[in-house]
Amino acid sequence: MVCIGVIGAMEEEVASLIAQMENEESKTMAGMTFHKGTLWKQEAVVVRSGIGKVNMAVCTQILADVYEVDMVINTGVAGGLYKDINVGDIVISSDAIQHDFDVTGLGHQRGEIPRMESSVFRADTELVDMAKEACEIVNPEIQCFVGRVVTGDQFISSNEKKEELVKEFGGYCAEMEGAAMAHVATLNHIPFVIIRAISDKADNSAPVAYSTFEEQAIIHTVKLLAAMFLKMSK
Ligand code: ADE
Repeated sequence: MVCIGVIGAMEEEVASLIAQMENEESKTMAGMTFHKGTLWKQEAVVVRSGIGKVNMAVCTQILADVYEVDMVINTGVAGGLYKDINVGDIVISSDAIQHDFDVTGLGHQRGEIPRMESSVFRADTELVDMAKEACEIVNPEIQCFVGRVVTGDQFISSNEKKEELVKEFGGYCAEMEGAAMAHVATLNHIPFVIIRAISDKADNSAPVAYSTFEEQAIIHTVKLLAAMFLKMSK
């Protein structure tokens, strides 16, 4: 059986997954508690990475080295960038980029990581298709988009910054970890997908919207993951 690594940055994003695990055993490394067990008939390791790219990178590398996971999934919330997206909708990553990687001073494009083959990390198409299909079945009341996830160590809460991310990167949603997982997964040749529920619109209204809708948005990602895992076990 394959082993799936599931990473959420915050407690709220993984608590309900951990609560539903069977035969769960935990181990703490680098200040992160890794919960290994059976989740919806799949072998899985669920972990809260903490917020930001460095925490996510460390966490993903531990999943690769210690647990030898066959795939990694990042779940959580994000700020919506795409014009038609609403709070509660879901974005599944086509690919991911680090929007705050800036070596423009040396003539590189924003987001470009010099001396790497690519700075855009492509998600596994099978996982993307499976996630989209699962979402459409279990969350018919919301929209589900496949698009680019843009990641940076910044909470996006201004109309100007939002516009910039849309214009420069064609992002569908902004968050703070996904591309770091994608980067590490790619270096380790591990398939990945990022699944994010929209908690706010990454504009001036984001701080209030985020506090109001964060918990509600997560319900959709949990339902999606359950359907996806059950499908994989068939
Ligand atoms: N996560 C949820 N909303 C976000 C936002 N607006 N910016 C960055 N990360 C987020």
